[in-house]
Amino acid sequence: MKLTAHRGLSSKAPENTLAAFEYAVRYGAEWIEIDVQLSQDGVPVVIHDQTVNRCTNGSGNVAALTLSQLQKLDAGLWFDEQFRDERIPTLAETLMFAKRHRVKLNIELKVHEGDSAELLCQAVKRVIEDVGAECDLLLFSSFETEALMLMKHLLPDIRRGQLWQKVPGNARDMLTELQAFSVHCDYRFLDEATAKWVKAAGYQLYCYTPNFPELVEQHWRWGVDMMITDVPQNYQHESCVQE
Ligand code: G3P
Ligand code: MG
Repeated sequence: MKLTAHRGLSSKAPENTLAAFEYAVRYGAEWIEIDVQLSQDGVPVVIHDQTVNRCTNGSGNVAALTLSQLQKLDAGLWFDEQFRDERIPTLAETLMFAKRHRVKLNIELKVHEGDSAELLCQAVKRVIEDVGAECDLLLFSSFETEALMLMKHLLPDIRRGQLWQKVPGNARDMLTELQAFSVHCDYRFLDEATAKWVKAAGYQLYCYTPNFPELVEQHWRWGVDMMITDVPQNYQHESCVQE
């Protein structure tokens, strides 16, 4: 059974922090999913929402705050007192962590309203090259096809996965154009026929974010390759189709 720790082991530690990545490694996760966007001064940072309001003690848009301002915020206290002083990690720190632990990273390129996909992709490319990350240990995903198309040209050796809530009718053409490796969709909107054609077309098929293993027992049977979940630890003893 293949599992990705969504935003790190986000059921046990504050999402998208080094603490959550450490929990994921301790649990034995093969893959960690992270969300990446740019600070005001163009540094790729790991945080999901457009604002820092939910997951830090600050307020405002990520894109309006410099790296130095973002790094002053506490990104752990909102989750639990024991995570006081956790910080918003940079992509560079996260890549170094992944390299050290040989854990694979699914880098979700977050393009919020008003963000430039081009600037994000250029900055992510620079960081990946600076850190010397291994392409085989990385996978890009995004709801923004434009970002994935940019990455196809900027870093063609890193695999690309298209994120959709529900796989659309024109998916085949888009996936071909993208030379995609994988399709990532919301498990609640996947049906057997869609799963079957995606697999027959040769793509990996991943589902987000099933947090109750019993809700996706049929999805494994349809051929889904991986679940991206906050609770990979809850799957350990499930009798699902094994790889
Ligand atoms: O990559 C799967 C999942 O993370 C996509 O949705 O909103 O949790 O980033 P979201
Ligand atoms: Mg995500």
